[in-house]
Amino acid sequence: MEQVADRREIEQVVNEALRELEEAKKDLKLIDALRVKYLGRKGLITNLFKQLGKVSPEKRPELGRLLNEARDTVERAIGSATERAKEAILTSKETIDVTTPGRIPIIGSLHPVTQVTQEIVRIFSQMGFEVVEGPEVELDYYNFEALNIPKDHPARDMQDTFYISEDVVLRTHTSPIQARIMEKRRPPIQIIAPGKTYRCDSDMTHTPMFHQVEGLMVGKDISFSHLKAVLTLFVHRMFGPQVGLRFRPSFFPFTEPSAEVDIQCVMCGGSGCKVCSYTGWLEILGSGMVDPAVFEKVGYDPEEVTGFAFGMGIERIAMLKWSIDDLRLFFENDVRFLEQFT
Ligand code: DAH
Repeated sequence: MEQVADRREIEQVVNEALRELEEAKKDLKLIDALRVKYLGRKGLITNLFKQLGKVSPEKRPELGRLLNEARDTVERAIGSATERAKEAILTSKETIDVTTPGRIPIIGSLHPVTQVTQEIVRIFSQMGFEVVEGPEVELDYYNFEALNIPKDHPARDMQDTFYISEDVVLRTHTSPIQARIMEKRRPPIQIIAPGKTYRCDSDMTHTPMFHQVEGLMVGKDISFSHLKAVLTLFVHRMFGPQVGLRFRPSFFPFTEPSAEVDIQCVMCGGSGCKVCSYTGWLEILGSGMVDPAVFEKVGYDPEEVTGFAFGMGIERIAMLKWSIDDLRLFFENDVRFLEQFT
């Protein structure tokens, strides 16, 4: 009856193990010591397995089954005792689980449009330009009239301009700040004016609200060479000294002569691609010599002073800088997009 004795012996060991675990309560160290005592390399249950080699082959399967059951029972009991003990540690007020991985704090970053604005401001500040601001809700007079844009000019079309009333608009560009500053001050003037602008337009490259930076330099003998020098330096600082640029004749009601500045395509380097419509060039800003008609509106004598002005879209610069193809991304505030500019 060797088998019966074995069964009883196994049961005894298991019961003893369960009792000791019960007594260990929530003491992790003790529970671990019991694991070694019963299931370790020289543990009591492990030792019982060694009897398998001594019993007759007929009895071996039955004994094996009993031993496996015993081991499983004790393993499960140790497992749940360990769980209970850990749970107790976590829920008790005094203890901190220093092994818990820390939470990484989410650190915000400046919006890409803000970053580019600051970059532009920094470059012009280094050249002596002062930063000024103007109202976003603007008089029709400053937005159009003072800039030599007469009542029937297509730029005033209801399609483009948000009218608040007959003579109040949301400014469609930052150029009205030029007129406001000149009206208030006497030359020399050397300012840039960043800010929000509004047009009734929406697609891949237009949003109803966007940002511009205006620039203005007025004084005695300010010439087109000054305009070229300042804007060339700006392009080289913004996009790198290797980037080529060109001044292309253009028209604006408030400048004469006028020029648009193109830079070599940031995608293909000028060889021609989809982004630059295979021209090799990308337009980045409008500029020109302040029109005498504008000087007259603000009470300056065009025989006495000259000046140049320029204006650029900030999102456009940002899109070129980071190769972004959809303007609307800037305003959807999807963190997956914004996180890329940290
Ligand atoms: N205000 C123009 C626009 O929104 C940009 C511009 C062009 C500004 C030429 C200027 C300038 O000061 O001289 O398209």
